[in-house]
Amino acid sequence: MSAEPSQSVRPSAQLASGTPKLQGSAQIEKDSILSVRDVTVGFGNKLILDGLDLDVVRGEILGFVGGSGTGKSVLMRTILGLNKKRRGSIEVFGRNMDTATEGEMTMVRRRWGVLFQQGALFSSLTVKQNIQVPMREHLHLSQRLMDELAILKLDLVGLNPDAADKFPSELSGGMIKRASLARALALDPDLVFLDEPTSGLDPIGAAAFDGLIGQLSKTLGLTVYMVTHDLDSLASVCNRIAVLGDKKVLAIGTLDEMMKNDHPWIESYFRGERALRRV
Ligand SMILES: Nc1ncnc2c1ncn2[C@@H]1O[C@H](COP(=O)(O)OP(=O)(O)O)[C@@H](O)[C@H]1O
Ligand SMILES: [Mg+2]
Repeated sequence: MSAEPSQSVRPSAQLASGTPKLQGSAQIEKDSILSVRDVTVGFGNKLILDGLDLDVVRGEILGFVGGSGTGKSVLMRTILGLNKKRRGSIEVFGRNMDTATEGEMTMVRRRWGVLFQQGALFSSLTVKQNIQVPMREHLHLSQRLMDELAILKLDLVGLNPDAADKFPSELSGGMIKRASLARALALDPDLVFLDEPTSGLDPIGAAAFDGLIGQLSKTLGLTVYMVTHDLDSLASVCNRIAVLGDKKVLAIGTLDEMMKNDHPWIESYFRGERALRRV
């Protein structure tokens, strides 16, 4: 595994504050709103994840790291039900995703929001129409109400109402990420999945996006599952960090705990030259 190069270094990243008080693994399992057990995923004869366990605790911002191609997106897609697993179980909001009824699955999907790594927005739809896609799927609202809601969501992510009628091609990279986040928040989710939300942004745009995530997590009580390569995001907004490697979660804990871990990849990622330049 190799760490991907960061674009540059942000000056003012600090340790995340307000970390939820977690007392050992029993407490984590009790507060878990997403629990992954023994999950194994492969394509053809290539195994990507093998016996992976993970808990995400209500209200936390979990940062998910790992070398390129280790399966971070595959795991997220598997949790979302978009990739098949060969073994294991996934529970979201206390529902086992294999045995949930269609009605229960619909409720689960209403309570999560997703920002995918690629294809964040539909290019043929305006920003407003993009934000309304999940609303149309799950809610029965008048167009007028959906228009008002779309403006509220834009405001939530720091975009002006005049972004509503623009097409994605008319937006900057940072605005596209924010508009995608507005779509992920369309149904007032409890849990959001973000796959590399700050990749492609300049350091200032990325820092602003991280600040937004931290603020939304606090004010909306959102739980955030964020795949990222960005050490500054990990340091500034994440309460816990999970490291994917060797087809499973190699380690999970606070940044301090990662700094003390002596697994070679974890050590080079968190204490290597690039990490030290941050301090
Ligand atoms: N649908 C698929 N079919 C076959 N191989 C896939 C598929 N999706 C992902 N992979 C492979 O799984 C591995 C992990 O991919 P991915 O989860 O995208 O990595 P990353 O950790 O960078 O997000 C890669 O080798 C990728 O080529
Ligand atoms: Mg990926």
